[in-house]
Amino acid sequence: MRLFDKNLEELRQKNLLRKIKDRGSLSGSRDASKILIGGVEYISFASNDYLGLAGSTELVEAAKKAIDAYGAGGGSSRLLAGGTEIHKELEHSIAEFKSSEAALVLNSGYSANITAIPAIADENCTIFSDELNHASIIDGCRLSSAKKVIYRHADIEHLNELMDQHEGKKIIVTESVFSMDGDIAPVAALHRICKNHDALLYLDDAHGTGVLGEGCGALKHFGIEPDSSIIQMGTFSKALGSFGAFIAGEKAVIDWLINSGRGFIFSTALPASVAAASLAAIKLIRMDKRLIEKLWTNRARLFDGLQKLGFDTMKSETPIIPLNTGSIENSLSLAQHLSDKGIYAPAIRPPTVHTPRIRLSVSASHNDEDIERLLSILKEW
Ligand SMILES: Cc1ncc(COP(=O)(O)O)c(C=O)c1O
Repeated sequence: MRLFDKNLEELRQKNLLRKIKDRGSLSGSRDASKILIGGVEYISFASNDYLGLAGSTELVEAAKKAIDAYGAGGGSSRLLAGGTEIHKELEHSIAEFKSSEAALVLNSGYSANITAIPAIADENCTIFSDELNHASIIDGCRLSSAKKVIYRHADIEHLNELMDQHEGKKIIVTESVFSMDGDIAPVAALHRICKNHDALLYLDDAHGTGVLGEGCGALKHFGIEPDSSIIQMGTFSKALGSFGAFIAGEKAVIDWLINSGRGFIFSTALPASVAAASLAAIKLIRMDKRLIEKLWTNRARLFDGLQKLGFDTMKSETPIIPLNTGSIENSLSLAQHLSDKGIYAPAIRPPTVHTPRIRLSVSASHNDEDIERLLSILKEW
């Protein structure tokens, strides 16, 4: 047997083998609520493009204009010559949007976490990480030379106890909106604890940016003014419909990342077209809140319908709504049932999550019929 065949066979037997499903292009439409796979069109409840911006004319035109001006690729690291005026403008815009002193664009959310966390958490530091944090945060923690302590999910009492047991520099690392569960971290309490322990809060706002706090994210949602105890991370790849990520914080933090963040120093800059699309997205959501309102109206409609049908939606508070199916087999069978009826919402299995589920993500681009169709198909199951 070749080197990895045995491993793959083991995954297959446990129903854990993953396969890529590539999207086709829906000719004449970039509607985020639809997806074309293997020539079949589905209503999609699988995208993190919560505002349906990825296909919007504003983002596409901004990207095209930047391609014409700067070409297709970044060419080199920003520290060499890969950056453009558009990157700079995007950073100003993010700093304003996140009410922070400065911001730095990084190449993806994954890259931001594995770049920033090791850069800010050195061997004299203890990181306190929520047990449900995203893999990129876990990997960022692993890459750092700090001591790592895991606290029970969103459990402030447990966190407090653990922090009391440690001396020295402390950093709490959490997602604002948990990507697979859709619940919101107790950010106000976390911020208070940071103040009491003279600790830093590293907030991964990947799923809060563009969704919570009129789009500005979790801090605004909780009415918290950013201060020197908070470092915000966010992505352009989800509600902002583009690609890449950012860190927003004090100027000294950003300057430190520019000088020590390995994923920034040793990686080619994002193409200007990608930065231009992100910039267009921020302008758009700052100007017009209707998309965010539509997102939350759609979320309420779907969530209420699921409650009436008796589904276990776990702790969802956001457009991410998991359906707890009880087993890997049930998740796969529900995903298949949905797919047979023209709905795309894949099963999420270990190791991504402990509890197998269908992860529904509703967007502003869904219409009432899309949501009612999903509910009626779920009712048959
Ligand atoms: C909480 C969280 N952080 C970081 C990331 C990584 O972001 P990106 O997809 O831009 O690499 C994700 C995306 O899956 C995420 O859910």
